[in-house]
Amino acid sequence: MDDVPDMTIRNNGSAPVSDQQLRDAMVQRLIELGAARSPRVVAAFRSVPRHLATPEVAMARTYDAEYAAVTKTDATGVDISSVSAPRIQAMQIEQADIQPGMSVLEIGSGGVNAAYLAELVGEQGRVITMDIDHDVTQRAKDFLKATGHRNVTVITADGEQGVPGHAPYDRILVTVQAADIPPAWIHQLNEGGRLVVPLRMRGMTRTIAFVRDGERLVSDGFELCGFVPMQGAGENRVRLAVIHDTDGEEIALRLDGHPEPDTEALRAALRTARAEAWSGVTLAGDESNEHLDLWLTTALDNLPLMAAKPSARQRGLVASASPLGVPTLVDGDSFAYRTVRATDDPDRFELGAVGHGPQGKAVAERLVEEIQTWDRAHRGHRAHIEVHPAGTPDDQLPAGRVIDRLHTRITISWP
Ligand SMILES: C[S@@+](CC[C@H](N)C(=O)[O-])C[C@H]1O[C@@H](n2cnc3c(N)ncnc32)[C@H](O)[C@@H]1O
Repeated sequence: MDDVPDMTIRNNGSAPVSDQQLRDAMVQRLIELGAARSPRVVAAFRSVPRHLATPEVAMARTYDAEYAAVTKTDATGVDISSVSAPRIQAMQIEQADIQPGMSVLEIGSGGVNAAYLAELVGEQGRVITMDIDHDVTQRAKDFLKATGHRNVTVITADGEQGVPGHAPYDRILVTVQAADIPPAWIHQLNEGGRLVVPLRMRGMTRTIAFVRDGERLVSDGFELCGFVPMQGAGENRVRLAVIHDTDGEEIALRLDGHPEPDTEALRAALRTARAEAWSGVTLAGDESNEHLDLWLTTALDNLPLMAAKPSARQRGLVASASPLGVPTLVDGDSFAYRTVRATDDPDRFELGAVGHGPQGKAVAERLVEEIQTWDRAHRGHRAHIEVHPAGTPDDQLPAGRVIDRLHTRITISWP
């Protein structure tokens, strides 16, 4: 790597903090978070001067493990490009299991992740990084020139077609949210190769490590994540069904292949009193809902995620909110969403549901039944996800939830 300027900042006016010290602190945090695990990934994160990719951002911020530097927003205010947070980058790179000498395609560029990949494949390997946006690839090129990573090729194109000219790849790493898997990604991957992709399934995104097995992909682990949406031929955004929008206090259901709701009836339902149902199932304070929610979307046909703007939450219009959305069971003129309440144990919360509308209580009870089923039969297990070509007959798919997209049939099954 070329020499880069040893920039220093002063931490609250005292001792100067060098970029290397910031990197060391970031790596320590990534290890604590369990995001960086293998020594080679740790070494890569310790060496790449990521702050050079976003000179407009304060250097210390670029080394915050959870900070994503947004570099572009579209006309509707949706973030469409960023340098991902170090924790997310490390998590995906660990999922990809990159070895020296490999050929790796990154779809969705930014430069920083490509530099980590270049460190991991070494001089004998090669990295192709591509982005649909010329501004992004220019930024990536400038960054990679500054860091001196020469085994990276930067390409401007729509990732839908992959990059056939440099295929096949041992690994494909997608760093933008996908609702489908285009055939090119499977065909450009070596047999047994790994595809890591933030895949949206009925509104819920998980970055999944898939292994190619002929024409199908088989999951080998996944992690919770949020990513900017795909542009180009594969663009397929969630659609919002707004059920409340007074004074900027918007509440909406994010539809992703779900039936069209009766929004007028649901607006009226939200104005009615809450009906609660409780499950007796508890979660530890630091326990994630990620597996429970995947179970709920496997078991229940009409479960979009509900998104509430902070102002709606502050005024208490909804009892539960999350940037990733809250699973909400819709049934005609009524709905119920997952929530929690405190228990006598300060470290545990009881799962339940809040219902609204004429059938609000019954819908909340139905949601709670599936929370109890998860606890009884699936808790502690992970969903198994497969991707099959569109047109694969039902009897050749694993049992479970099937999500039909343009190119593929995605299945979620449970042990
Ligand atoms: C989260 S950013 C990538 C971050 C990057 N990997 C890094 O170094 O942290 C996602 C990128 O995907 C790009 N993108 C969106 N749709 C795309 C498509 N169809 N093909 C290629 N890139 C796409 C966006 O322009 C955006 O720059």
